[in-house]
Amino acid sequence: MTISTCDNIMVVLSCFIIINHVFIAFSSPVGSLIDLPAHDHHFQTRKLHEFKSKFFPQEQVSLSSSSSPSPSPSSPARSSSGVYSVIEYGADPTGKTDSTDAILAAISDAVSVAGDGFLMEGITNLGGVRISLEGGIYKISRPIKLPVAGRGNILIFGGTLKAYDNFTTDGYLIDLSPSSSSTNHDYNYEFVTLRDLMLDCNFKGGGIRIVDALRTSIDNCYIAHFTTTGILVQRGHETYIRNSFLGQHITAGGDPNERNFTGTAIDLQGNDNAITDVVIFSAQVGIMVSGQANMITGVHCYNKANGFGGTGIYIKVPGITQTRIVNSYFDYTGIVAEDPVQLHVSGCFFLGDAFIVLKSVRGVVDGINIVNNMFYGSNKGVDIVQLDQTRKEFNEIGRVMVDNNVVNGMNMKATVANGVTRVNGTSWTIDFNKILLFPRRIKFVQHSLMSNTSDMFPKTILRNISNNQVFIESDVTVEGSAAVTVDQGLTMSS
Ligand SMILES: *[C@@H]1O[C@H](CO)[C@@H](O)[C@H](O)[C@H]1NC(C)=O
Ligand SMILES: *[C@@H]1O[C@H](CO)[C@@H](O)[C@H](O)[C@H]1NC(C)=O
Ligand SMILES: *[C@@H]1O[C@H](CO)[C@@H](O)[C@H](O)[C@H]1NC(C)=O
Ligand SMILES: *[C@@H]1O[C@H](CO)[C@@H](O)[C@H](O)[C@H]1NC(C)=O
Ligand SMILES: *[C@@H]1O[C@H](CO)[C@@H](O)[C@H](O)[C@H]1NC(C)=O
Repeated sequence: MTISTCDNIMVVLSCFIIINHVFIAFSSPVGSLIDLPAHDHHFQTRKLHEFKSKFFPQEQVSLSSSSSPSPSPSSPARSSSGVYSVIEYGADPTGKTDSTDAILAAISDAVSVAGDGFLMEGITNLGGVRISLEGGIYKISRPIKLPVAGRGNILIFGGTLKAYDNFTTDGYLIDLSPSSSSTNHDYNYEFVTLRDLMLDCNFKGGGIRIVDALRTSIDNCYIAHFTTTGILVQRGHETYIRNSFLGQHITAGGDPNERNFTGTAIDLQGNDNAITDVVIFSAQVGIMVSGQANMITGVHCYNKANGFGGTGIYIKVPGITQTRIVNSYFDYTGIVAEDPVQLHVSGCFFLGDAFIVLKSVRGVVDGINIVNNMFYGSNKGVDIVQLDQTRKEFNEIGRVMVDNNVVNGMNMKATVANGVTRVNGTSWTIDFNKILLFPRRIKFVQHSLMSNTSDMFPKTILRNISNNQVFIESDVTVEGSAAVTVDQGLTMSS
């Protein structure tokens, strides 16, 4: 569930409320920036469709038109156990011959069972049919798709799929997208589980694609040799990717060809997904996020070093980011977030001069927590958090909290800072430029003075805070010390 409040400090222009999958989005002054996914825009329309076709049409299940006729061993009698073994359908577990048709035939039978119970409207509960790859290695020349949409409670598990040399380069080995445009429901699939699979894309395409699906699990999968994307999630919600390993090239780091790594390991183009305990060992971009309310936890990115042009996590949801990244490990590769609004990064470890970039598109940054992380670098003077203002300067800066990070061998950056200076005279300055993230921006100052002359009671005044320098004057000469706290975030004023 996405529950976001509309109480952003910025002017609230509009507020969409969609019941069911509760989704409340606000738009800030960057209203035009906010690119709500089509899912939300069309939700109401689609609810109407859903009402019209109350029951999912009992389609005749057949292989998609691109498939050749059923494989030579005629389809076995339907398993009464609900387990569909692809070998029984003629798949070759030694990976010598093309098993596409056999696997598709097994799936076709599995999704043709009558089903019972209930899932989302328009989705037939297949009771947990299991398509077993039986520990074999299968070559496939076309994507493995379900022949119909509107099915749920399905498991595909336990084996290796490898793309044939003639596999379509824009395809995905497992493609959970509807074969036809038959569905006019909100979701194509519900509760599909892909587990214990190795997918070798053989540099021919991508691994898994999931379109408009709900409550999907990808668990203990190893996805390699993709050219495009390891796992692509489009719309839908609650795709849970956990305990999996993704890399374009099989490497354990320090690969001589690291410079040439391409592709994206996981691309989340939807809301409310979770990536948990996943290792990304080679790819140009580890995780690309362009939906909201996604949760990333326990991810280890060492896909392509930042120095070679790689990115660990790229968050491209300007103006309405709503992304949480916690307890993750950025190994020579970092995080980039475009115009982030509501971004939380905590408990992460950044190794090898890895850092976080806040990239300005329209100059908006608000609701940021970058707190309680560890950074370790090689004393090259790299800032832990950096601003990319090449396109535009950040000019709508809301509450940004960068603080409490533990830094070793890199430059600390923060939005709150304390400074102490020795005083001997009638004026003194503390320069915070070295530590403050934003230039020329101090919103709040607290100041105290300690004099070591016992009978003294000087008056002091804050004269100037421009250029991140705090300038204070006193009426008499003071010998002692001054302590100053500054904050770049928003403060309440009255
Ligand atoms: C791909 O190659 C295999 C092996 O030569 C062949 O069986 C299969 O029909 C081919 N598929 C396509 C789509 O060309
Ligand atoms: C990697 O890229 C470099 C330069 O772009 C090229 O010279 C080299 O051959 C490439 N290596 C591989 C294995 O493709
Ligand atoms: C403070 O300034 C005065 C005048 O310049 C000087 O005489 C004195 O030694 C200074 N005190 C310290 C502790 O530096
Ligand atoms: C504050 O200091 C800057 C130089 O650091 C100066 O340009 C500016 O005029 C000062 N502002 C005021 C109000 O004195
Ligand atoms: C008084 O303050 C100055 C700093 O301006 C310091 O050097 C000096 O040691 C202080 N004297 C005592 C007695 O604490």
